[in-house]
Amino acid sequence: MADAEKLNQAGKSAPRKVKYRKTKARWHPAMQAIPIPGIRRMVNMAASMKDVIHLSIGQPDLPTPKHIIDAYVDALHAGQTGYTMDAGLPELLVALRDYYSKRYDRKLTRDNILITSGATEAMYLALSATAAPGRQFIVTDPSFLIYAPLIRMNGGEVKFIPTRIENNHQLDPDEVIRAMGSRTFAVVLNSPNNPTGAVYPRSTIETILEECAFRGIQVFSDEVYDHLIFDDQEYASVLKCSVDLDNIMCISSFSKTYSMAGLRVGWVISSQATIKSLRRYHMFTTSVANTPSQFAGVAALTGDQQPTRDMVKIYQERRDKIVELVNQTPHLTGYQPGGAFFTFPELPPHVDGNDLALRMLKETGVCVVPGDAFGETTTNAMRLSFAAPCEKLEEAFDRIIPWMAKQNF
Ligand SMILES: Cc1ncc(COP(=O)(O)O)c(C=O)c1O
Repeated sequence: MADAEKLNQAGKSAPRKVKYRKTKARWHPAMQAIPIPGIRRMVNMAASMKDVIHLSIGQPDLPTPKHIIDAYVDALHAGQTGYTMDAGLPELLVALRDYYSKRYDRKLTRDNILITSGATEAMYLALSATAAPGRQFIVTDPSFLIYAPLIRMNGGEVKFIPTRIENNHQLDPDEVIRAMGSRTFAVVLNSPNNPTGAVYPRSTIETILEECAFRGIQVFSDEVYDHLIFDDQEYASVLKCSVDLDNIMCISSFSKTYSMAGLRVGWVISSQATIKSLRRYHMFTTSVANTPSQFAGVAALTGDQQPTRDMVKIYQERRDKIVELVNQTPHLTGYQPGGAFFTFPELPPHVDGNDLALRMLKETGVCVVPGDAFGETTTNAMRLSFAAPCEKLEEAFDRIIPWMAKQNF
């Protein structure tokens, strides 16, 4: 008889040891796809330390514009505390439709859009509704840490395409195309990229989209940093570069553009047929996004855009500062990120970034995220966030530079 059956039959009179095993959680095997976050040890250690400088932050540190906060509070006072329509607040669907139609000069309807609880839910719906055994997803290495687990949880296969520091972490479209085969189901794009800050030029996006359309490969494009673009570069959204939306899911949110990460509103834009299916899944997942936050989103899209332009200027100044500081740091190789608020410098090839980041935290009080949180080939890298003022960046490197100078690699 199997142990579990014995347990059930044994009931209350079972010996202590058996009782303990009965209550032990038995997760679905899919849970094994969720990694134990490498940064956990660091976060725990940082929490027990005084005077820690965090270059590990993955969200904006700049304040949410006042008119957005006001809209959120006004919505609460107006009694907007119930559910919205499952596709999203109608006013927000209209605002997003108008905003994207104008921005990318393409005709969209409300039925092309689904409002979600942040880009995280949008990505969860998109990937977990499509990943399945036998389906291969092309993902960059390094990449934002949720893609690969979401694909693997449902039995999908991840094929990593490396991006390299010597190429400013640009994605080589020919390498992506060469990796495509009969099992390739999808390509996941993320520009500007977390953790590298790389912004892909239009030629990269167009080449990949064209090949995907030809082969019937799905494209998931995570565009949450689409406004945090430096040096007046043009932003190449899949919505601008694709002819139709049949094989495209464009995902974004208010989190980064308007410093609204905690308000949890994102969206998927795709063909009407895709949105119809995702909408059903969304109803059975989170039902709707936060209602007052959706009103805040309408204010964000239709209100003054100057605060976002000001934020981009600030992030760009910080980007310039951190590039300069990384260049002054012994053993660290940097490059110029074109967007978001991250850089991903490298240590010498044989150095374990995890080990080093932990020691650096212990000995200097500066917290960064080790590269292995984002990929398989990036164990000698570290993600540094510049969602921190220039003075903090300088203070952090005043500690890092002399410490790194003492390391014997
Ligand atoms: C690339 C990327 N995609 C998605 C998200 C999640 O965004 P949201 O707050 O909208 O869920 C993040 C957050 O850090 C991110 O960096």
